Amino acid sequence: MLLEIEDLHVHYKSYWYVQKVLNGVWLRMSEGERVGIIGETGSGKTTLLKSVLKILPQNSLIPRGTIKYKDVDILKSGEATLASIRRKEIGMIFQDPMAALNPVFKVKDQLHDVIKYKLLSEGHNPSKEEIRGHALRALDDVKLPDHDRVLESYPFQLSGGMRQRVMIAMALISAGKLLLADEPTTNIDVTIQDQILRLIDRLVKERGLSAILVSHALGMVRQMTDRSYVLYAGDVMEEASTDELFNHPMHPYTSLLISSAPKISTRDIGEGIRGKLPDYRSPPQGCRFAPRCPYAMEKCYTVKPKRTIVNSAHIVACHLYE
Ligand SMILES: Nc1ncnc2c1ncn2[C@@H]1O[C@H](COP(=O)(O)OP(=O)(O)OP(=O)(O)O)[C@@H](O)[C@H]1O
Ligand SMILES: [Mg+2]
Repeated sequence: MLLEIEDLHVHYKSYWYVQKVLNGVWLRMSEGERVGIIGETGSGKTTLLKSVLKILPQNSLIPRGTIKYKDVDILKSGEATLASIRRKEIGMIFQDPMAALNPVFKVKDQLHDVIKYKLLSEGHNPSKEEIRGHALRALDDVKLPDHDRVLESYPFQLSGGMRQRVMIAMALISAGKLLLADEPTTNIDVTIQDQILRLIDRLVKERGLSAILVSHALGMVRQMTDRSYVLYAGDVMEEASTDELFNHPMHPYTSLLISSAPKISTRDIGEGIRGKLPDYRSPPQGCRFAPRCPYAMEKCYTVKPKRTIVNSAHIVACHLYE
C-alpha cells in the first residue's frame, strides 16, 4: 500500500465555532495507481489532499485519524521527515497557482530552490549549472516556451496558463512517487484545459507515478484514473473502479452528481443537485446527504451508514445497501 488514510477527521476552528469538515474519510491506494476524487464544491477535497502533506492551515485540527504513506505515519511525523517527503516523494499541484507561487520571487529562484532541496535531500549537492539544467528540462517537460523570459519573470508577469505550467513543473520535481493534482485546470482558459490535463496524464504515465486527481471535469477523471472516490460533505460516499463507478453508480449522491454534470455534447449546462451542502458547524447526525437524498429513510437521519463492500472493486456507504 502506498497511501492509506483511515477515519480522518479534520475540523476548522474560528473564534466562535468549529466546522467539522472531514468526517471519517478513508482512502487507500497502491503504488502505480491513479485515483480520482469527485464531489461538489466545498466537500473537502482540498482539505483531504492538504492533510496528506500535512500542510493544512493554522486554524485546522485533526481530532482523529491516520495517514500512512509507505511506512511513515504522516500525522505523527516530525518536520524533517515531512520536509523530505515533500521535497522528493509527494508533489502537489494546487488549485490556485498564485497561492502556491511566491509573488515576491522570480520563477527562477523558486524553481531553483525546489530543485536544489530535492537533490540535497537525495544526498547530492548540485552545482549552479546542474540546477539550471534541471530547471530548463522541467520547463521543457511542461512545454513552456521562452525559457529565459519565464525564468526571469515574477509570477504576476506570466499568463494564467504559464503560471499553471510553472507550478506543474515544480510539483513534478518533488513528485518522485506520488502526484496530488487539485483541480489542475480551474484557473486556465477552457481551450487549454484539456491540453494541460493530457500533459499531466502523459507525464504521470512516463514517470510511472501514482496520482490523485481532484477534478470537476468528470470526463477527465473517467479517462485518467483507475479508481475513484466520491466525497460529499466530508464523507466518502462511494469508492469503485472508475469504470464501475461511472457505469454503475450505487449511491444516490453519485448518480445525481454524474447525471447533473454538464454535458458538452448536448450543450446542457447542468442544473446541479437540488439543495446545498450542510452547515459544517452542525452537520447532520446520520448520513450527511440525507437532507438532500430522494431515497432517505428514517434511519438515514440518525445513523451514519457503514462502509458496505459490494465486491472487491466497489464500496458504498449507504443504508440502501446494508
Ligand atoms: N482555513 C479554513 N478555515 C475555515 N474553513 C475552511 C478553511 N479551509 C476550508 N474551509 C472550509 O472547509 C470546507 C471544505 O473546503 P475544501 O476547500 O476542502 O473543499 P473542496 O472540496 O476542495 O471545494 P472546491 O471544489 O471548491 O475546491 C468548506 O466549507 C470550506 O469553507
Ligand atoms: Mg478544492
